[in-house]
Amino acid sequence: MFSCKPCPVGIFDSGYGGLTIFDKIQKALPAYDYIYLGDNARAPYGTRSFEVVYRFTRQAVMKLFEQGCQLVILACNTASAKALRTIQQKDLPLWDASRRVLGVIRPTVEVIDCISRSKHVGILATSGTISSNSYTLEIEKIYPHIKVTGEACPMWVPLVENNEFHSPGADYFVKKHIDHILSIDADIDALILACTHYPLLQDKIYGFLPEGITLFSQGERVANSLKEYLQRHPEIDNRLTKGGTSHFLTTESAEKFSEAASTFLHYPIHVERIAID
Ligand code: DGL
Repeated sequence: MFSCKPCPVGIFDSGYGGLTIFDKIQKALPAYDYIYLGDNARAPYGTRSFEVVYRFTRQAVMKLFEQGCQLVILACNTASAKALRTIQQKDLPLWDASRRVLGVIRPTVEVIDCISRSKHVGILATSGTISSNSYTLEIEKIYPHIKVTGEACPMWVPLVENNEFHSPGADYFVKKHIDHILSIDADIDALILACTHYPLLQDKIYGFLPEGITLFSQGERVANSLKEYLQRHPEIDNRLTKGGTSHFLTTESAEKFSEAASTFLHYPIHVERIAID
């Protein structure tokens, strides 16, 4: 159904946030070819329904498969929470059972026990990720002794997408959610940035955190987990081309994307605008 060469790793997010994951993956695995797709025209996904996030994510994965990707990483917690399972179980067997789509929630959850001493953990994420309960359910499966508190931070993605993450407005919304989650469970000693946009707010968040609380960004963990996955699955690894190239696609303005991307990647990139619906 889809063409097969070249075979880059596909990385998908609703917008710019997945660049925080791409950056770490590309550093950990520089030899591979990559295509990054940001659905900026339809971001944010965090407040959208299951049905819509699934439909948009499915279209994006199909587009990346058409571009030759054998493996796609959903570098978006909202898409991982709302669309990954259905794509893996329902769509992949129909499209091409030999290709793979992986998310960011499972690798993050796997290390949570090592991050917290109190075993009280807070999840900061979009409304969609929190309402899906994905983190709580996944953590319960492997670490039932950990108490999980979720906090939806619906304004944080728009602050990042609109380059307002250094503004006084950002102070207000960051403090509001940090204070709220810690008022629900004062024993939390680890907060997980469970949205790929949030590392851009990290410095601001630190400013409102009491001492002794760890703030965990998932980029490096996802990159290491992918490295391990490719070592365990040579049948996938052997199908990926290793030319060290990176291409960037967006569903919105290419100029806007390359300008915003420089905040995340600190080097100029070439971006192409595409339609995926
Ligand atoms: N970056 C995405 C995530 O990790 C969500 C952004 C959005 O709301 O579109 O959840």
